[in-house]
Amino acid sequence: ELSPIDKAKFVAAKRSVDFVEDGMRVGLGTGSTAAWMVRCLGELVREDGLRIKGVPTSTRTAQLAREVGIEVISLDEAKWLDLTIDGADEFDSSLNLIKGGGGALLQEKIVATASDQMIVIADIGKQVDALGAFPLPIEVIPFGWQTTQALVEETLISMDVLGRNSTLRMNGQRPFVTDEGNYILDLHLNRIGDARQLAMVLNQMPGVVENGLFIDICDCVIVGFGDGRVEVRD
Ligand code: A5P
Repeated sequence: ELSPIDKAKFVAAKRSVDFVEDGMRVGLGTGSTAAWMVRCLGELVREDGLRIKGVPTSTRTAQLAREVGIEVISLDEAKWLDLTIDGADEFDSSLNLIKGGGGALLQEKIVATASDQMIVIADIGKQVDALGAFPLPIEVIPFGWQTTQALVEETLISMDVLGRNSTLRMNGQRPFVTDEGNYILDLHLNRIGDARQLAMVLNQMPGVVENGLFIDICDCVIVGFGDGRVEVRD
């Protein structure tokens, strides 16, 4: 038996694979909700003969996709994608997102941007009035990361957006390292006023590779509820 939150994730994931058509090149997201979607897609490949090529957004997702029988290709082999399906940590009414809770935001953003369409699958708990309660992840180069952190903090304080502080994401006693060999800083902001401006400012800083704000990238959110209901927002 699934808990209500897992049920909500599962029903959203299950609905999302209805949008996948034979012959498509599909971006495969990362996280627990996206993992349900990959399993559902694998079932369609194995049992219904669905022919797709998948571009994973992390080594974790690549491994799962292969396990369930999906043909995996690189983004450069695919060149472009018909559709990407991924989870999110927060979404607002404009379908802007915070992503990167799982640490895969860089590959996720590259893959989603290379897709004709991005569908997000999420439980209703991810819906917010304003983005920012979930700490905003940014991916930074390990070289001089503390200097980058200081620059980020000073800049955000001067813009009046930093609520508390920022923290280096850890994996036990060591820094968490992304698939691209970088670190993650989690920015505790509370409430982001102008997400578009913040995303631009962050990406202009030396040492910052990418941020977890997805602005005007997502086309549709499939929302799952604990009682099994699903709503499509677009
Ligand atoms: C991965 O880097 C994230 O962007 C995930 O998409 C996000 O954390 C959602 O994860 P869950 O589906 O596990 O909540």
